Amino acid sequence: MNILAPSILSADFKNLGNQIRDCQNSGAHYIHIDVMDGVFVPSISFGLPVIRSIRDASDLIFDVHLMITDPIRYIKDFAAAGADIITFHQEAAPDPMAVIDLIHSCGKKAGISIKPGTGLDTLEPYLNIVDMILIMSVEPGFGGQKYIPSSTDKIRTLRNHLNSLNRSSLDIEVDGGIKADNVDIVLNAGANVIVAGSAIFNGDISSNIRDFLNKMM
Ligand code: DX5
Ligand code: ZN
Repeated sequence: MNILAPSILSADFKNLGNQIRDCQNSGAHYIHIDVMDGVFVPSISFGLPVIRSIRDASDLIFDVHLMITDPIRYIKDFAAAGADIITFHQEAAPDPMAVIDLIHSCGKKAGISIKPGTGLDTLEPYLNIVDMILIMSVEPGFGGQKYIPSSTDKIRTLRNHLNSLNRSSLDIEVDGGIKADNVDIVLNAGANVIVAGSAIFNGDISSNIRDFLNKMM
């Protein structure tokens, strides 16, 4: 099934609870939550108190994307704060397997992500154990960037490889520069979880979500 995950990085934070409810009422499936530490990526976004605070604004799945160094330090905290899926960066974790195990031991789904310059081969040891793979289609750190076209081949190669491993049900999420008018490209390549920030929160949330869902379902 194709899943739409609005990224609240582009939300209006003074109105965050209402905007999350708009996402849910308009048919979005997940809420994508970008946590940035100013070290792994240049920006600082928001963290645990915000997640705790918005947890009761929605019963959608909280899809937490950790752009933080040495994420194992904070997995239990994000699980307790209300994350349902916790995705970390392969590049940021000295021992990715230990991070995946800890996420699972907290009863949460584990995702692993790579930046545009990181090869798919780095994911090989984890393909049989993770619940989702997040392919970054921009350099992580900022919303509103342009989709990097070489991401399409990366997604297609990964999807073909997963099929050959009998892992065709594994979710591939794509994040960065996705709009209603290029979402078909990443879906055709084999992604099924679509993150969109600026394309959903700039303008009218429900009509933006409707445009996405029309192209996705
Ligand atoms: C970027 C974040 C994205 C960001 C996407 O580092 O991981 O989730 O919010 O924003 P758009 O959809 O505007 O490219
Ligand atoms: Zn993200």
